[in-house]
Amino acid sequence: MGETEELEYDENMISLLEAVWGEGFMSPGGTDEVDRILGNKDLSQAKVLDIGCGIGGAAVHIALTRQPNSVTGIDIEENLVNLALELAKKNNVSAICDFQRVEPGPLPFEPGSFDVVFSKDSIIHIADKFSLAEDAYQLLSPGGWFLASDWLCGYEGEPSPQMQAYIDAEGLDFDLASAKTYQQAFEAAGFVDIECEERNAWYRIQARVERDNLAGPLYDELVSRVGEDFLSREIDVWNKMINVLDSGEHRPTLLRAQKKL
Ligand SMILES: C[S@@+](CC[C@H](N)C(=O)[O-])C[C@H]1O[C@@H](n2cnc3c(N)ncnc32)[C@H](O)[C@@H]1O
Repeated sequence: MGETEELEYDENMISLLEAVWGEGFMSPGGTDEVDRILGNKDLSQAKVLDIGCGIGGAAVHIALTRQPNSVTGIDIEENLVNLALELAKKNNVSAICDFQRVEPGPLPFEPGSFDVVFSKDSIIHIADKFSLAEDAYQLLSPGGWFLASDWLCGYEGEPSPQMQAYIDAEGLDFDLASAKTYQQAFEAAGFVDIECEERNAWYRIQARVERDNLAGPLYDELVSRVGEDFLSREIDVWNKMINVLDSGEHRPTLLRAQKKL
């Protein structure tokens, strides 16, 4: 990203997302959701890559709780990587948890560098799911796991006007794909044991709690930090998101797949 380009996740957005989702998180569910993605997979001594690490909450949680060999978080926004580095330092895990800014596109690591490729709600920003699956497959060691959550869509083709209104309101660079597309991309890359676990039922309820927190207990404190206009716009985004969670067009999903041994 060039210096003149606008940040997708600026200071106001980070303040708001951390207020709703917890320190270090720019996506729903916090550490509980990270644990759900990882399930009972053994990460001890694993080399873990976190694609789209944001401000580091998930990577630091993995470093603190799963005894990995290393966690490498990558992101395209330098401001986020710097905050992630600070979070690792604050939690005394800098020795095993590092963060790097990368350019969008093929990832700058040798084949077989990682035992787990993790990602939380970030690959929505990567348009070509087939190239992403191929890259992840190459980066994994034999038997390694791709373990992620992402925001999928419940339709093929064009979004409904209601869904388009939500995507426009978010104003972020979203490239939503269906579970079928992910399944095909993982299969084409050579993954086995591919699982897509729906989280729509959970997030439909949780998103209402988040919206009510934004409009209620968090409101005054957030207005003083991000301003009333910004906060009102974000509450409107949440309302539009709840509409498409209810219609099933917005489908948060956990994705798991294994590289053949
Ligand atoms: C919704 S945030 C999630 C961040 C973090 N995983 C979390 O759960 O808190 C999406 C992240 O993906 C990053 N991102 C967008 N495009 C990317 C790309 N091509 N490669 C790596 N990261 C990317 C964004 O900068 C942002 O930090």
